[in-house]
Amino acid sequence: MSLPKHVAIIMDGNGRWAQLKRRPRTFGHIKGTRVAKKIITACSRRGIKNLTLYAFSTENWFRPQEEVSLLMMILRRYLKRETENLVKENIRFSVIGDMALIPLDVSDAIAHSMEATAHCTGLHLVFALSYGSRQEITNTVKEIAMRVAAGELAPEDIDESLINSTLSTYPTPDPDLIIRTSGEQRLSNFLLWQAAYSEFYFTEVLWPNFTESHLDEALHAFSKRQRRYGKVTTNDNVEKLSN
Ligand code: FPP
Repeated sequence: MSLPKHVAIIMDGNGRWAQLKRRPRTFGHIKGTRVAKKIITACSRRGIKNLTLYAFSTENWFRPQEEVSLLMMILRRYLKRETENLVKENIRFSVIGDMALIPLDVSDAIAHSMEATAHCTGLHLVFALSYGSRQEITNTVKEIAMRVAAGELAPEDIDESLINSTLSTYPTPDPDLIIRTSGEQRLSNFLLWQAAYSEFYFTEVLWPNFTESHLDEALHAFSKRQRRYGKVTTNDNVEKLSN
């Protein structure tokens, strides 16, 4: 079975799951974190090289203060409790997003986890935190413009590869498979540039109900997809494309 090198997940539906149980939305985020933990380990054990989880978007800052604080607390607690386990599982942790907005105790925990797992060579786990793709692309354009203004680069030097290497996701490869739970079928400002040729997998399952079997279903569906990257598949290039 062909395995994606990079899986990205939009973990959606925590709030609705909690509401169905007549519990506060924050209860859904707590359950969602437990599920994230299981899925991280499952991806690692299946030999996936990169996993990006959309944990908090730039738009999520506009949620009620109580929910935002709880999400920040959950993230800090997750990193404090799980870093040792990440090291044991040989998982390297990093983040993308606007760290300037993240509370100091959370950014300290992030820095500590990144440092502690820097030597790990297995799964690369990325949390997209305070992340918005348009903001990321805007920052990239600004950075390149400044290099042109400083005479370091000529406008003709700007190509896809330069943009790629200036994005915050570099050098992680583009996601091969993007999973979104809870029945919503949109990207919500997630990896817009990087998703140019991603395969999408949408499931009605709410994130707190997502299991390893659901992950395997998504991986199986991915292995059946024909990825043509805009080209025509002929017998000659079929092998080339699958590499
Ligand atoms: C979307 O569900 C989920 C979020 C905005 C937060 C996702 C965060 C977690 C699962 C916790 C992350 C923690 C770790 C350690 C990765 P929603 O609240 O938008 O649900 P709804 O659409 O049903 O309202």
